[in-house]
Amino acid sequence: MKAGIVNVTGYAGAELARLLACHPEVRLTQVTGRSAAGKPLGQVFPHLAPLGLAIQEDLDEVDVCFTALPHHASAELVPELLRRARWVIDISADYRLHDLATYERWYGHHPSPSLLPEAVYGLPELHWPAIARARLVANPGCYPTASILGLAPIIDAVEPQVIVDAKSGVSGAGRTMKLEVNHYCEVNENVQAYGLQGHRHQPEIAQELQEARNRAREHAADGVPLQVTFVPHLVPMTRGILATCYARLAQPLAQHQVMERYRAFYADQPFTRVVDAPPATKQTLGSNLCLVYPLVQEATGQVIVISCIDNLVKGAAGQAIHNMNLMLGLRPTAGLEGLAVYP
Ligand SMILES: NC(=O)c1ccc[n+]([C@@H]2O[C@H](COP(=O)([O-])OP(=O)(O)OC[C@H]3O[C@@H](n4cnc5c(N)ncnc54)[C@H](OP(=O)(O)O)[C@@H]3O)[C@@H](O)[C@H]2O)c1
Repeated sequence: MKAGIVNVTGYAGAELARLLACHPEVRLTQVTGRSAAGKPLGQVFPHLAPLGLAIQEDLDEVDVCFTALPHHASAELVPELLRRARWVIDISADYRLHDLATYERWYGHHPSPSLLPEAVYGLPELHWPAIARARLVANPGCYPTASILGLAPIIDAVEPQVIVDAKSGVSGAGRTMKLEVNHYCEVNENVQAYGLQGHRHQPEIAQELQEARNRAREHAADGVPLQVTFVPHLVPMTRGILATCYARLAQPLAQHQVMERYRAFYADQPFTRVVDAPPATKQTLGSNLCLVYPLVQEATGQVIVISCIDNLVKGAAGQAIHNMNLMLGLRPTAGLEGLAVYP
């Protein structure tokens, strides 16, 4: 199988190339990059030199293609990519929201809305059967991955107001220079909240948690829509997301019952692991793991869930490769068995 990456020059694209270099069944044969077309890949990213590729302007035919473009730019190209590749995995936000009006509220005009109904939201823990049949997968956002995996197992047993307080490393904002989010002096030794009046990942988290709640409460739905409060923070580290999720239990549940729920929910999932103590971002660094720790706080009747990922792996490139494995009928963990880099 031959794979291509559209825009290897960003963080998500470069991380895809790093992970695909070790994939046992799929060979990365083409990469594109607007700012570096014509250059050897190893000149732009010395760590990727062993791939022996040159950066192209355009992609020719491949079996599977990843787009690591910003939103809009991706949706402009994906219809053409679906003619050049049998499977397309889009890492941007362009096909994640099912509802066009919601997309347009957060992102503006959609360049190829006719593909929205067929795109499958690529969170394998929730949607693996549909992913396996898809030709277009919308790879989830990094914050949504950590938040949804943190709350999905309990979402049908809590009051309909949930809060996600999440922290991200600076690579979450991409390699493109933006003063306040990735200039060293603005970010170093500093922590800041942002997106307080709304962040584009909120509707994505709400969509998936609402659907998960509806599925689990098929016969007991109260019709009250879920309200998701999401507040992201930027912290001075390169990679990693830690989401702290809060929800109030609708009926009392003991700690061991909540733990059993989480363990059963993720029992067959190779990359989401329920742990016995609050996890830390470094325990996931460079790996496709999501570590989840739910805790019933007896004094308040709340469930607090800590969820950690590496934003560039489980939050982007690793999850995209997991999706590719499912779409191509390969071993789900192929190419993703590397352990986290600790400390
Ligand atoms: N960073 C993360 O943790 C993360 C996680 C999940 C999803 N994502 C998504 O992944 C995508 C890429 O993110 P990133 O963090 O890798 O961003 P990035 O480091 O800023 O890279 C963006 C890439 O897109 C290219 N580009 C920008 N505007 C373009 C345009 N109009 N036409 C063609 N190419 C264009 C840039 O190429 P040149 O520099 O060569 O011009 C660069 O290679 C985004 O949609 C982002 O939302 C990122």
